[in-house]
Amino acid sequence: MQSYSELTLTAVQAALKAGEILRSGFGQSFKIGKKPGGNHNLVTDYDYYAEEAVISFIEERFPKHSFLSEEKGAIDKKNGSIQWVIDPLDGTVNFAHNLPFFAVSIAAVQHDKTLCGVIYAPMIHELFIAERGNGAYLNGNKLKVTSTTLLKDATLATGFPYNMKDDGELCIERFTSVIKLGVPVRRLGSAALDLAYVAAGRFDAYWETALGPWDIAAGRLLVEEAGGEVTHFNGAEFVFSKKNSVLATNKKLHKQLMATLKKHDH
Ligand code: IPD
Ligand code: CA
Ligand code: CA
Repeated sequence: MQSYSELTLTAVQAALKAGEILRSGFGQSFKIGKKPGGNHNLVTDYDYYAEEAVISFIEERFPKHSFLSEEKGAIDKKNGSIQWVIDPLDGTVNFAHNLPFFAVSIAAVQHDKTLCGVIYAPMIHELFIAERGNGAYLNGNKLKVTSTTLLKDATLATGFPYNMKDDGELCIERFTSVIKLGVPVRRLGSAALDLAYVAAGRFDAYWETALGPWDIAAGRLLVEEAGGEVTHFNGAEFVFSKKNSVLATNKKLHKQLMATLKKHDH
């Protein structure tokens, strides 16, 4: 059995709590609101319930830590300490349509580096945990990315921004250039799980544009700790900013996929 730091254990407990809340709401009737930036950018009551549960649980243990959470935004304690980056419900469109593919994503971040990341899919009962330098695990089993070396043999995943008007053309062109390779491409609807699945070797690679820090903070550490690589589309080292393009691979496919996506970076 892995032994974990207090930070990681706190993230796990918070994710399990939020997961229980999401499970209790799944398939029930709840309010569904629309957020700016896309007709299908939804937010449900349960995004807020789960978020409240995560923040209050962590804040009780670490009152000096800061937070960046999707619905609540930033709570900055201005002391340079750890920042918890939280997506309380990643895959809201799935949740709102009774599709059981969604997750809670929680990461503790310091100086742009994720120290630990937890992704929990409550309906599928899968708990992904990564701690910097300590590996990535799914329900206690160590994870390793695939060893696929050629893009033509790969199984890939992607996602699309809510408002395709922002970057629609490029998204479509990039997607077209990848599917023309004749490889399977999945669009599951949860960026956090897409990343976790690269770590788990279920996908060889994943790309998506315009993601928030909360979508990727935990997942990128899972991929890295499982032996993979996560960068922007242009290969630049990952830094937190409002919107990010993300390319996560088993490392061996990184340059090949980057070149395919780059064809449309004009
Ligand atoms: C969304 C999901 C989706 C991705 C979107 C994200 P949300 O997060 O991760 O898979 O394609 O770009 O915004 O809104 O369900 O938390
Ligand atoms: Ca999200
Ligand atoms: Ca969300």
